[in-house]
Amino acid sequence: MSTYVGLDIGTSSVKAILVDDTQTVLAEASAPLDVSRPHPLWSEQAPEDWWQAVLQTIETIKAAVPSAFADLRGIGLSGQQHGAVILDGEGRVLRPALLWNDGRAGLECEELTSSVPDFILRSSNLAMAGFTAPKILWVKKHEPDIFRAMRKILLPKDYIRFRLSGVYAGDMSDAGGTLWHDIANRDWDDVLLAACGLDRSFMPKLVEGSDVSALLSDDLRREWGLARDVFIAGGAGDNAASAVGVGAVQAGQGVLSVGTSGVIFTVTDRLVAQPQRGLHAMCHAVPNRWHGMAVTLSAASALAWVAELIGASQDIGGLIKQVETFAANEGNRLQAPIFLPYLTGERTPHDDPEASALFAGLRAGHDKIALAYAAMEGVAFCFADDLDVLQVAGARMTDCVLVGGGARSVFWCQMFADVMGIALDRPAGAELGGALGAARLGMLASGAGSEAEICNRPAMERRFEPDALRTAAYAPRLARFRALYRAERALRKV
Ligand code: XUL
Repeated sequence: MSTYVGLDIGTSSVKAILVDDTQTVLAEASAPLDVSRPHPLWSEQAPEDWWQAVLQTIETIKAAVPSAFADLRGIGLSGQQHGAVILDGEGRVLRPALLWNDGRAGLECEELTSSVPDFILRSSNLAMAGFTAPKILWVKKHEPDIFRAMRKILLPKDYIRFRLSGVYAGDMSDAGGTLWHDIANRDWDDVLLAACGLDRSFMPKLVEGSDVSALLSDDLRREWGLARDVFIAGGAGDNAASAVGVGAVQAGQGVLSVGTSGVIFTVTDRLVAQPQRGLHAMCHAVPNRWHGMAVTLSAASALAWVAELIGASQDIGGLIKQVETFAANEGNRLQAPIFLPYLTGERTPHDDPEASALFAGLRAGHDKIALAYAAMEGVAFCFADDLDVLQVAGARMTDCVLVGGGARSVFWCQMFADVMGIALDRPAGAELGGALGAARLGMLASGAGSEAEICNRPAMERRFEPDALRTAAYAPRLARFRALYRAERALRKV
């Protein structure tokens, strides 16, 4: 028997699972992470915290199932995308990582775009503040000593690979989030690198997500009591990994991920780009496939934020039950406030790091449950915008599977289906997300089976069909939501 670890370096936690050859989950563990926001728009984490969290989850798994862990053959990595981990020539971290939801580099996005005449054509993506390249330009400008000392730039999960193996490597799906990737040809783009004063020596080597990138270091193998070589797969950005986890590997297969951020991901068999509206176009974690992705920066995190504000963060499940009771009354729904969840700006469709959240339409009769309802509905409205961008771009979905912690709520899932007007399927084990996809990539890299065998569709536990009447009832509120953003944008110019 062989076993495989899937590691997901998230924003709010590191998750690890151990599966066997049949993909039965033998153990799981997670360790929480904090985000530091030292200035408005900034969002940072210490890479050492990710590594300590990884060690902690591995220790927990090892203690829970020692003999299964001793059969470890492969590791797959999934991680929050875009983060800039900046290392010196000795592999030492020079400053905290600038994360995917960091909005400080808006100006650098404009500079980058104007410095390369065919920037958008080359990168297939708009320069957005969350992406890696503008962050490095920001460091170059504001922290020149760090820029000078910098020798390598890694994405979050690739830093964990480095700690596991000593090897600098990255995968195709995550590389697209840097803005230095030639996505059609699956290689670094020298012109885009040069625009940031960089060349290939700053980049890790690239492999496909399902190929071997490195072996676990001898030191860790000894420390963890492992007799055999352990293969580390290329792995994937968390969204591509979640897609692999639910078997979304063929063109048309879609995933709606409701995590800290919210994402609609559609597999394509060619590069499908529509940068003008903030569509993210990147490679998939399996060869010869790509994906289109629409990203909402605050999803479950928007509900968590409101819950904190109203003193309900200890029991989000209980809060959602109260929201459900509130929403059972049509009058409540129609008169509820409207919430823009742009707490950390927004990517798709606005590309607006300065966008802010707001409640509109508040009345004396509204209570905290009305606010929580508005937060949940606002996230659903973001997904309606995201779906529209994907459809117009031609990245059409034939089906859509729900993943992520927010998908645990039946009420919220039904709201998503109703607001978007499409059917959504929720698999058993939806919360495993990126960790299962990572474990699958670890299996593929270790030669445990073919893609068709390993990346199968999990059993679906529930289907959420849209209700045409409810879709129609949401439509005018969606129109107000869209108008509210236009007003919020205009207000910032006053
Ligand atoms: C995708 C993105 C987020 C992070 C969250 O472009 O920025 O989904 O990957 O972990």
